[in-house]
Amino acid sequence: MAIRWAPVLACLAVGALGDVTPAEDFDPLQFVDVLIGSTNAGNVFPGASQPYGMAKAVADTNSSSNQGGFTLDGSPVQGYSVLHDSGTGGQPSLGNFPFFVYPSCPGDDINLCDFPKKTRVKHGFFKPENVKAQPGYFSIALDIGVQAEMTTTQHTALFRFTLPNGTGANGTYPFVMQDLSDLSDSRQDNGTVSVDAQTGRISGGAKFLPSFGSGSYTAYFCTDFSGPAIQDSGIYVNSRATTEAKDLTISRSINGYPLPGGAFVRFQDATNPILARTGVSLISTERACANAEAEIPDFNFDSVTKAAKDAWKAKLSPITVSSGGGVAQDLITNFYSGVYRTMVNPQNYTGENPLWKSDEPYFDSFYCLWDSFRSQIPFLVILDPVAVAQIIRSLIDTYRYEGWLPDCKMSLCRGYTQGGSNADNVLVDAYLKGISDGIDWNVGYQAIVKDAEVEPYDWATHGRGGLDSWKSLGYIPVQDLDYKGFGTMTRSISRTLEYAYNDFCISLMSQAMNNTADQEKYLDSSENWKNVFYPDQTSILPTGVDTGFKGFFQAKYLNQTWASQDPLTCSNIDTTGIACSLQNTGRETFEDSTWEYGFFVPQNQGDLISIYGGPSEFVRRLDYLHDQNITNIGNEPSFLTVFQYHYAGRPGKSAARSHFYIPRYFNPTPGGLPGNDDSGAMGSFVAFSMMGLFPNPGQNVYLITPPFFESVNLTHPTTGKTATIRNVNFDPSYEAIYIQSATLNGEPYTKNWLDHSFFLEGKELVLTLGTTESTTWGTAVKDLPPSTGKYVGFNGTSSNQRLRGRSALKYRSDIWKMDAFAHS
Ligand SMILES: *[C@@H]1O[C@H](CO)[C@@H](O)[C@H](O)[C@H]1NC(C)=O
Ligand SMILES: *[C@@H]1O[C@H](CO)[C@@H](O)[C@H](O)[C@H]1NC(C)=O
Ligand SMILES: *[C@@H]1O[C@H](CO)[C@@H](O)[C@H](O)[C@H]1NC(C)=O
Ligand SMILES: *[C@@H]1O[C@H](CO)[C@@H](O)[C@H](O)[C@H]1NC(C)=O
Ligand SMILES: *[C@@H]1O[C@H](CO)[C@@H](O)[C@H](O)[C@H]1NC(C)=O
Ligand SMILES: *[C@@H]1O[C@H](CO)[C@@H](O)[C@H](O)[C@H]1NC(C)=O
Ligand SMILES: *[C@@H]1O[C@H](CO)[C@@H](O)[C@H](O)[C@H]1NC(C)=O
Ligand SMILES: *[C@@H]1O[C@H](CO)[C@@H](O)[C@H](O)[C@H]1NC(C)=O
Ligand SMILES: *[C@@H]1O[C@H](CO)[C@@H](O)[C@H](O)[C@H]1NC(C)=O
Ligand SMILES: *[C@@H]1O[C@H](CO)[C@@H](O)[C@H](O)[C@H]1NC(C)=O
Repeated sequence: MAIRWAPVLACLAVGALGDVTPAEDFDPLQFVDVLIGSTNAGNVFPGASQPYGMAKAVADTNSSSNQGGFTLDGSPVQGYSVLHDSGTGGQPSLGNFPFFVYPSCPGDDINLCDFPKKTRVKHGFFKPENVKAQPGYFSIALDIGVQAEMTTTQHTALFRFTLPNGTGANGTYPFVMQDLSDLSDSRQDNGTVSVDAQTGRISGGAKFLPSFGSGSYTAYFCTDFSGPAIQDSGIYVNSRATTEAKDLTISRSINGYPLPGGAFVRFQDATNPILARTGVSLISTERACANAEAEIPDFNFDSVTKAAKDAWKAKLSPITVSSGGGVAQDLITNFYSGVYRTMVNPQNYTGENPLWKSDEPYFDSFYCLWDSFRSQIPFLVILDPVAVAQIIRSLIDTYRYEGWLPDCKMSLCRGYTQGGSNADNVLVDAYLKGISDGIDWNVGYQAIVKDAEVEPYDWATHGRGGLDSWKSLGYIPVQDLDYKGFGTMTRSISRTLEYAYNDFCISLMSQAMNNTADQEKYLDSSENWKNVFYPDQTSILPTGVDTGFKGFFQAKYLNQTWASQDPLTCSNIDTTGIACSLQNTGRETFEDSTWEYGFFVPQNQGDLISIYGGPSEFVRRLDYLHDQNITNIGNEPSFLTVFQYHYAGRPGKSAARSHFYIPRYFNPTPGGLPGNDDSGAMGSFVAFSMMGLFPNPGQNVYLITPPFFESVNLTHPTTGKTATIRNVNFDPSYEAIYIQSATLNGEPYTKNWLDHSFFLEGKELVLTLGTTESTTWGTAVKDLPPSTGKYVGFNGTSSNQRLRGRSALKYRSDIWKMDAFAHS
């Protein structure tokens, strides 16, 4: 049965079969599967959280892929903890101060319970069907009979432990312990924990290391109990416990392995569940207790769960997709689950920042902007602009106090920069799309210009390296001479490409701020990508077969001679095992090949297409990238390449390509992500792709493809205006995925892209679909998205003719000369 819904109360919608369904039934949470990505290296946090919440409660397994805490890969549970990140690579993040719960200790002797993670984990096995995960709620029943349910407010988790019937009888006392470890055993000197003999309150704190950054952070917690009466309490160190001592200060380690230690409380019975409320803070133990008392005064598990669900419902409700036309239910789940994950991270640590005093918002867990600039933060720009304004204010405030915008940030620490200064792209994207609420854009502008102009001494964690060479040579040389600052001396190709795009974004903001001098300066350096294009570079497959493609980006020495990195190095089919991450032995591209980076010129697809021999050759190269498995869709640089056919006048091929990847590589199952979710980056790729508009991030441009649904509505949370994308001839088998014609607000519309006014003004885009690629819709040069260079093209343009030309460039869409592309 086809049911349609609408978010507006009292609005009745007629389904495809003529049935009438009350609209207020619509609950987007029924379509959120939070367990997507909980195995197969998705590394998502699948537990209970509020949108952007700091408290994130889940059961932690001992999996080697437990970066997000819980996994569904058969690994047992080693604890239940309150602080987490989501989707990250690097070391497992957070997971501090985990609980473990036993129905009782053997013979009721506390010294016979297993305390260290390594030994207690053998009591943590469970069956997958005993896991229940929903937005704001997580429950798991272990085979030892302990059920742990959890829910959260912003800084506090509430656990409900239900123990086997009979626990407590005959003096077998339920045992709850909480220890001073974290997921990656990074605790430093000195951890402290205390337990109050009267109330059972356990509180403490310890210093830990961030998972992908420098420095350290100190976290605090405060746990109170409700339910059964307390029998006794104490502390434990290593594998021994005592009720005599109530306070412990513990050193880091014995023989390199962090010394297990913590506190415990025993209860007299378990006829009622044991409620444990844990407040967390990055300021102090007192603050952790105050957070808990203020946010969950009454230990009411059901009302806290309902509040968390309501918060998620409010966040997801502005976007509705039609369930009509026979669309498969699991595609709706795929979509909303992706949307959900865009708001798990970053985390709102406002009021919890010990590093500086400020009234500005403070957000953390940008993990990393290299990942999230591409579609996650642009997605929040359309769905949650109020949060984006706070996120931008926080980034700018970080610049004020630390001198630089962050590129990656977790647990109050500076994370490692992967390429360019990609906060520039994030700020400019938000600026061009009208995000203004309380933001001092003049300081924002200063911050991005500083990235381009001033090299930090430590450019491993912010800003850019190699700026002298960048300015004198126009590229980052391999084996650069750089004595002004320090960072990993690799990735010269991808850094050149990213710096060029960062400069382009700065140029766009300069233009919007009427700063013509800066506009031209940064437009000029945005062309630096041309300096690392080596027209004679060929590419041979590992099998020895020549790909036939010629001309790739290549590393260049200071003396301007070419180095030689194989174009397939760091690609999905690279079998050499060479490090492509941040190792000092790494390569000249970060986590991807020059095949892939060969398309990373988001500012100037016109010239890139010419260099590659015109639109047909460009399309053939893009097809080869995808069809030969060279691209890794599980990593963010691939995202835009799915849609770049638009720039060659082939929007139909972008649509086909997005169906090639979704749901094959992104599906609503625990193993359904092709790579780390990276704080929601993969989620946003799914969400944007399925709603039919994909951003070229940093520009006011969305590339149009048909939504995977009959229609999509997005109501702007502050203007209240609803933007609609509607398919005519919707085909749930997705054979009719080619746009034949379109109207925008009722007028014929032939451009294959649109801008953000679509969302701000609540326009309606109607797409008429067919089963074959249209040769007319969105294919003419006048219909292509903007590019700094001209879309010239085919015959008569030698492959490197325009390479060194720095013509007066304008970011305008009216400079194109050709009328139409011939389709091959
Ligand atoms: C997790 O714990 C189980 C049970 O003790 C053990 O067999 C397994 O090797 C552990 N896994 C890891 C990655 O340590
Ligand atoms: C626990 O035992 C009591 C009394 O025998 C019984 O009423 C109750 O239903 C049992 N609870 C469960 C969950 O089995
Ligand atoms: C408690 O002890 C009594 C007497 O020793 C025994 O009959 C009863 O089965 C025990 N109950 C449980 C739940 O072990
Ligand atoms: C840890 O605590 C011990 C005992 O109070 C003290 O001697 C030592 O200096 C402390 N270490 C640090 C790093 O604070
Ligand atoms: C979108 O909004 C329009 C106008 O309010 C409404 O008629 C339609 O049912 C909505 N569609 C969805 C999928 O919510
Ligand atoms: C972040 O937290 C602050 C302080 O609790 C709150 O005022 C603000 O609304 C939160 N922001 C978002 C986007 O939830
Ligand atoms: C830039 O100039 C235009 C046209 O004079 C004006 O409308 C706009 O407000 C100016 N923008 C800024 C940021 O000064
Ligand atoms: C340029 O520098 C590289 C690396 O030091 C060196 O191998 C090459 O021979 C130099 N080329 C010229 C022409 O000096
Ligand atoms: C593409 O690569 C993936 C692993 O990255 C592999 O599972 C798949 O079989 C490959 N497909 C082809 C067509 O080579
Ligand atoms: C380009 O030139 C080739 C050979 O000169 C010719 O066969 C082809 O038709 C031309 N293509 C276009 C699009 O003009």
